[in-house]
Amino acid sequence: MKVTSKKSVNTIAYKNYKEDYNKLAEKVLLELNSTGYVVIKNFEERTNLEETKAKFLELSKIIGTPIGHDVNNKIIWDIKYNSTSNSFIKTYSEHSHEAELHTDSQYSKYPEDYFNLLTLKKANCGGGISYILKLEDILKDLRGLKKGKEIESILRETNYPFIVPNVFKKDKSNKPSFNFGPILRDNEIRFRIDTFEKAIKLKPNLVTEEQITAYNELKTIILNNSETESFYLEEGDLIFINNKTTLHGRSLFTDEKRHLLRIRLNKIPHN
Ligand SMILES: [Fe+2]
Repeated sequence: MKVTSKKSVNTIAYKNYKEDYNKLAEKVLLELNSTGYVVIKNFEERTNLEETKAKFLELSKIIGTPIGHDVNNKIIWDIKYNSTSNSFIKTYSEHSHEAELHTDSQYSKYPEDYFNLLTLKKANCGGGISYILKLEDILKDLRGLKKGKEIESILRETNYPFIVPNVFKKDKSNKPSFNFGPILRDNEIRFRIDTFEKAIKLKPNLVTEEQITAYNELKTIILNNSETESFYLEEGDLIFINNKTTLHGRSLFTDEKRHLLRIRLNKIPHN
């Protein structure tokens, strides 16, 4: 992945807001809707996992409505290397190789609006770098292409198949299940290379040649974008990401002790 952006990481110092979660939530929401992500530095002391989780959930609940991760509706999800998962379609939170830029839950009917990650234990192997890329920067490049308009309308107006990872499937059989939807909508992208490419490998007839061409153009723009930001998430960093307007990724890591927590959130409707 080409990463050359010199932008500095968008951060908030937790210590300035820890007494006022409403003010912190307001600031986070402002950043989610402008920059697309923000990192809260030094979130809590993290000496007691249960207390840390409670504060993590308390803040998250002011920012959005937490939604379950799996059939058991688990709200706080552990992200660590899972050597016991043998599923054919592993999700990125289960493995440790490179996770190319993507949005989460692109295979679901309504991907979550936001999600966050709290780093409890970072990878001590030099890997596990985070990547961030904004939809706005992708569209700028796409619209600069000669056939940009045509490609954009295919990505907006046709349905693409996404294969559902086994861990999130309701039906636990090995039969693949798909969800369909456009890659682009207004102020929204759903994108993940492996769930789409695995789907068309299994069922090539699910898409037309034009759709494949449009997808490949988009993929090239995403993987070679000079606006991609990269940074390490340090222990105590709590990152919030707008899952509709921002792609995220992670480089390979070998330290199996790396441990993050994640909560998925939907927008709280305002009347
Ligand atoms: Fe992800």
